Amino acid sequence: MINIAVFCSGFGSNLQAIIRAVKKEKIKASLSLVLSDNKQAYALKRAKKAGIKTATIDPALFKTLEDFDTEALKYLEQEKIDLIVLAGFMRIISPVLINQYKNRILNIHPALLPSFKGTQAIKDAFDYGVKITGVTVHFVDERMDHGPIILQAPVKIDDNDTLGSLEKKIHKIEHKLYPEAIRLFVEGKLKVEGRGVKIV
Ligand code: GRF
Repeated sequence: MINIAVFCSGFGSNLQAIIRAVKKEKIKASLSLVLSDNKQAYALKRAKKAGIKTATIDPALFKTLEDFDTEALKYLEQEKIDLIVLAGFMRIISPVLINQYKNRILNIHPALLPSFKGTQAIKDAFDYGVKITGVTVHFVDERMDHGPIILQAPVKIDDNDTLGSLEKKIHKIEHKLYPEAIRLFVEGKLKVEGRGVKIV
């Protein structure tokens, strides 16, 4: 069975969707660890409630991204983690983890990459006035919001949408798309070829 670690910094609604999918056995894997860089993260409460092991690493104690990731690696090795799922994790992943977990780190981004990279993607798309935005799940490589794309789903922005209503629509799609992408990974159905990901 594949062991999954979910990295979160905040609210953890995607984590919750993943917990649900594992419980329902839509994803046949073990949720072995929830790791956070923020001890206040609500995601940690969700993990504890679900009986999942948690770890918090205080970034203030580490000089570089690499030092932080080396510490994270200890937990990952302890739990024999096969797949890292970033779900609202507000840190850059360094080569320490990228090399160790090549094509085994997933991220979800609330826009249709390569449009609207960065931490304000929903607002940026809304302010730009695009008619269609969406959600992307991708493998993580050394560049931010850049690795091979696994799944994307569009979200229409209507004239009467507000930033708040758009956020709701995006999150609803996220909570379906992320578990689906994780399921595909766990079932060995993702084949990376250069920038492309084939579903086999
Ligand atoms: C999501 O919108 C995700 O796309 C982005 O951060 C947000 C995390 O939300 N990377 P949550 O903590 O899962 O509720």
